[in-house]
Amino acid sequence: LRPDMAKIKGIMLSKFSCENWEKIWSFQAHPDDLLIATYPKAGTTWIQEIVDMIIHGGDIEMCQRAPIILRQPFIEHHSTLMPSGLKLAEAMPPPRILKTHLPVQLVPPSFWEKDCKIIYIARNAKDSLVSYYHFQRMNKMLPDPGTWQEYFEKFLAGEVPWGPWHDHVKGWWKAKERQRILYLFYEDMKADLAREIQKVMKFLEKDLREEVIEKIIRHTSFQAMKENPMTNYTFLPSIDHSISPFIRKGIVGDWKTHFTVLQNERFDEDYRKKMMGTSLTFCNEL
Ligand code: A3P
Repeated sequence: LRPDMAKIKGIMLSKFSCENWEKIWSFQAHPDDLLIATYPKAGTTWIQEIVDMIIHGGDIEMCQRAPIILRQPFIEHHSTLMPSGLKLAEAMPPPRILKTHLPVQLVPPSFWEKDCKIIYIARNAKDSLVSYYHFQRMNKMLPDPGTWQEYFEKFLAGEVPWGPWHDHVKGWWKAKERQRILYLFYEDMKADLAREIQKVMKFLEKDLREEVIEKIIRHTSFQAMKENPMTNYTFLPSIDHSISPFIRKGIVGDWKTHFTVLQNERFDEDYRKKMMGTSLTFCNEL
């Protein structure tokens, strides 16, 4: 059942996405579209739930009745298991909230031409690696990760779906200079969610009362999202929650329970080389 992968401009994507690449590249964005962009496992589902709540003024029922979020799949998503992301997106009236894991250079040009707002979330490399490993274990639409050691090497080589983490976070960081991109960090959201929600509200030009913000914080807490079938993805046939739940641990620093001392040294050395010269930094990055 594990799918074939292929490459577009050196980036590993599903074979189906590659076969449909022309359609994806020519996707027509609308100026009112909001794009949520992330490297996989950075907190995509978390931010999309927050955005949905902000736009609906904290009305949970409205979020369920009139979803404006393309929950699954992503615009670049094509597979035999689920409907095409493009078809789903095209069927939605604007303003749409779309999702992508594409590195910045592969984002359909229409998003830049229409000057769409974009929210990007980055998560530190080591926790991203750990979370991605468990995700590839349980997601039938992604390649089998192999052993932990094998996956560790694949991640460093960028031989994982959507390509290397380092180029992804750096590429989007640079794009922020020229585009309307709100660049957020998973670790900041864990540290002070109210402050990060305020940033999103400002970016979306929304003003909400204090009690509404408190409601959003409760609704998007780790525990609430773990229990919510819309956000824990128990409805997705492609995910085997008996192997690993989708909303798994939700913490900063889980890499410490996975990395060996040697792996950590190897990772840090590689990290310093790849992140040299960028102004982008992560808390607890090494
Ligand atoms: P872990 O595997 O480390 O637990 P994405 O939505 O981009 O696939 O990211 C999934 C990761 O975000 C998972 O990380 C998941 O547990 C975490 N996550 C989801 N909702 C969260 C929340 N409300 N608070 C903290 N982490 C959350």
